[in-house]
Amino acid sequence: MTEPNTTKTTEAHAGARLAPRHPDTRLDSDWLFLYQQLPPEEWQSVDYGYKTSFWLSIHADIRHSQQTLNDISALYQAGKLTWADYRKHLLPRMRQYILKLHQHHSIEDQGYFPQFVRMYPQLKAGFEILDADHVHLDTLLADWQVLNQSLAVSETEDEALAAKLHAMIAEVGSLMSQHLSDEEDLVIPILGLG
Ligand SMILES: [Fe+2]
Ligand SMILES: [Fe+2]
Repeated sequence: MTEPNTTKTTEAHAGARLAPRHPDTRLDSDWLFLYQQLPPEEWQSVDYGYKTSFWLSIHADIRHSQQTLNDISALYQAGKLTWADYRKHLLPRMRQYILKLHQHHSIEDQGYFPQFVRMYPQLKAGFEILDADHVHLDTLLADWQVLNQSLAVSETEDEALAAKLHAMIAEVGSLMSQHLSDEEDLVIPILGLG
C-alpha cells in the first residue's frame, strides 16, 4: 500500500496565495498578508461577521444604488423611459448617491484610514491608493453635480445631457467597482482580525 504524499500536498497548499478579487486590482501582494489569513469566504462567517458586516453592508448599499442608476439610465438610452419618468426616477437617486459617497469617504479619510495606517504602517502605500481614488471621485462627483443641476431644470428633452449622464454614471461605476473591491481586500481582514 502506498503512503499518501502529504508533504507535497502541504507544500502546495502553503505556496498557494490567494489573489485579490478585482481583475484590475492595484494591490501589491506584500499588502495581502492579512487577506491570506482571512479570505473572503470567511468575512461573513459567525466568527468574523459581527466585526465586518457594517462595512460590507455600506458597500453593498453603494453597489445596489449604483446598479439602480445604471438600470434607469440604460432604460432611457434604450427608449423605454419617457423624459419625465427618466428625470423623476434618476434625479433624487443621483442626489442621494452623491451625498452618500461624500459622507462615506469623509468618514474613511478622517477616521478609519489614518487609524488603519497607524496599526499597520506597512499598508500605507495601499491606503494612499484608496485616498487618491477618493480625490479622483470628488472631482467626478463635482462634475456630476453640475450635470444634475442641468437635468433638474431641463423640462424639455435633452438627449445630449442624458448621454453625458450615462457616461458619468458608467465612469463612476467603474471606478467604484475597483475601489470598493480593493478597499475590502485591505480593510475587511483588519476589521475581522482586529
Ligand atoms: Fe473608500
Ligand atoms: Fe468604503
